Amino acid sequence: MVRSSVEELKSEAGRKAAASVTSGMRLGLGTGSTVAHFLEHLGARLACGELTDLAGVPTSIRTEKAARALQIPLGSLSELAPLDLAVDGADEVDPGLNLIKGLGGALLREKMVAQASRRFIAIVDDTKLVDRLGERAPVPVEVVPFEFGSHMAWFAAMGAEPRLREERGGDAYRTDNGNVIIDCRFNGGIPDPAALDRRLARRSGVVESGLFLGMAEEAIVAGADGVRRLKRVQGST
Ligand code: A5P
Repeated sequence: MVRSSVEELKSEAGRKAAASVTSGMRLGLGTGSTVAHFLEHLGARLACGELTDLAGVPTSIRTEKAARALQIPLGSLSELAPLDLAVDGADEVDPGLNLIKGLGGALLREKMVAQASRRFIAIVDDTKLVDRLGERAPVPVEVVPFEFGSHMAWFAAMGAEPRLREERGGDAYRTDNGNVIIDCRFNGGIPDPAALDRRLARRSGVVESGLFLGMAEEAIVAGADGVRRLKRVQGST
């Protein structure tokens, strides 16, 4: 598929999500190229007066800048939570609407904002749908910079191929929180995402992972045949 048509699909998913927003909502604003389209559509609805009294919490410095440029009013989580709706992209979506997120590096703030929201909608093009998490994308794991190399053997013992995320010049990539990211690839996918999630949560030095299990209530999926809204079956992870 050519790049422009993937962009069109992302834009369609963003448009549908922006159409779900109503005046007065408190929103979580995700991060990434699909969210950039959502912000554009949201900004357009605000600019023409179709929506009023909105406020959003951005999940990254990048989103904060984009939202400001579009004159989307912003606030902090402590001011605005609980949020009515969080809208964010994803790197993989499984049939239970479990997600891998964080290839854009904003996973920690994204998860904080999603957990503070009554509803969380993932917006994706259909290339992000997988049968099993980890099939294509690595799981990004945000760790504190102190002795980050000490986690590598631990990740490998869990069956991952860990790799420190780097900038083009070779320096370690730093998140908006000043941490580093280790991308963990699982060949053939992750056998038990919930077990992995629990192990990561118990590991000192690990701040957060890009596994978003049981969090998205809905996925808006744009494909060549149109846009589908997938709903999570309650209780499934
Ligand atoms: C940002 O940290 C990520 O979680 C993004 O939401 C995810 O990588 C999807 O990004 P795109 O919409 O750019 O594919």
